[in-house]
Amino acid sequence: MRSASAIRIGMDLAVAARSIEARLAELSAVGQGSDGGVTRLAYTSLEREAHELFASWAGVDGVSCEVDAAGNSVATYRAGTPYLLVGSHLDTVIDGGRYDGAAGVIGALESARAIAETAPLGVRVVAFAGEEGARFGRPNLGSALAAGLIDADAFGRLRDVNGTTLAAASAAVGLDPLATPVWLGPDVACFFEIHIEQGRQLEVGAARIGLVDAIAGSVRLSFEIRGRADHSGATPMRGRYDALAAASELVLAVETAGRRYRSTVATVGRMEIAPNNVTTVPGQTTLWVDIRDVDAELQRVCARTILERAGEIGERRGVTIVGEVISEQAPVVLEAWPRALAHAECEGRGLAHRVLPSGAGHDAAIVARRAPSAMMFVPCVEGISHSPREQASPQDIALAADLAGTVMLQASALLHPNDG
Ligand code: HGY
Ligand code: MN
Ligand code: MN
Repeated sequence: MRSASAIRIGMDLAVAARSIEARLAELSAVGQGSDGGVTRLAYTSLEREAHELFASWAGVDGVSCEVDAAGNSVATYRAGTPYLLVGSHLDTVIDGGRYDGAAGVIGALESARAIAETAPLGVRVVAFAGEEGARFGRPNLGSALAAGLIDADAFGRLRDVNGTTLAAASAAVGLDPLATPVWLGPDVACFFEIHIEQGRQLEVGAARIGLVDAIAGSVRLSFEIRGRADHSGATPMRGRYDALAAASELVLAVETAGRRYRSTVATVGRMEIAPNNVTTVPGQTTLWVDIRDVDAELQRVCARTILERAGEIGERRGVTIVGEVISEQAPVVLEAWPRALAHAECEGRGLAHRVLPSGAGHDAAIVARRAPSAMMFVPCVEGISHSPREQASPQDIALAADLAGTVMLQASALLHPNDG
């Protein structure tokens, strides 16, 4: 058996970087806005258009692509089970960047193509659907459905801000997610996801590769605040039931709760005001809270604190505040052995790298509940993400694709030594 570290896949990084750059440009045209941002929300025709583009790229390699009932696309570069799985997602947030998810899917095609001939295991590339929680509040919809981690009740409760249910949205694009067969399981020998860091540690640390050890969990809350709409000129301050003033106090309470512990973050990224009229005391507001931590207990404490503060604020101001837990996902510690292979490979290449947690959520956190999973980060400029200003280098993505392909082969040798 060849020693795992002797394996090289010999990807031409310059050629790969050019292909990656061209495909990033092609994909970013799907849902591109006037400010250069990209919007391809979960279970929209734009997300499906991106998956069709993915299938056409696999077709260029003579590889067929299948789409499951949840909208996940899988291209089989080498038949056989168990198989190595590599990929990420193609949906984006509202006015997001060109690299979040896209870099990982496009890089995965390079990795898979480079090892398809020599891998002793099957090789498949996946583009997950509905990874962003931006539309329905709950993240990782496609991977969770493929992993059997969403039940029909939870699925049935999901709707976007226009009241469109996930069931209706997915049916409108020809999908039937609840019919998704659970395929993330023992057939997956190991999953690899390449992703932009969406933070600044690699850039500050002058590292080209990040090896992820833990992925933050998330709790998503929504609050509906019902006060009383009144004339803004004729209503004295003391007699108001101002839903926006109450919401504003709650936003600051969220910030305070997020600041309480070192590793917790808490954000109100979206709020709706009704009737949203200059001369009316707001009668109703709705806001959504995103809480993250790599520590499950601190994440729970933060959510509980915010729910309690909402109750106090409502009581004191005489407004009704109804809080709802939309989704709760525990943090995930990734299996160490694939990361150890990547670490040794980086050391062997003299490649500046660092081990770090991910503050952002990823499909790897879901797949990790069903198969060994590894994440490789590439730096993004100033750590900016979920923004049109998101920027990463095709050369770094190509390097990560080469590393992922190499480590996938090394993993194969460890998983099935007699095939090596
Ligand atoms: O929001 C996130 O954590 C990731 O970008 N899906
Ligand atoms: Mn994202
Ligand atoms: Mn992402």
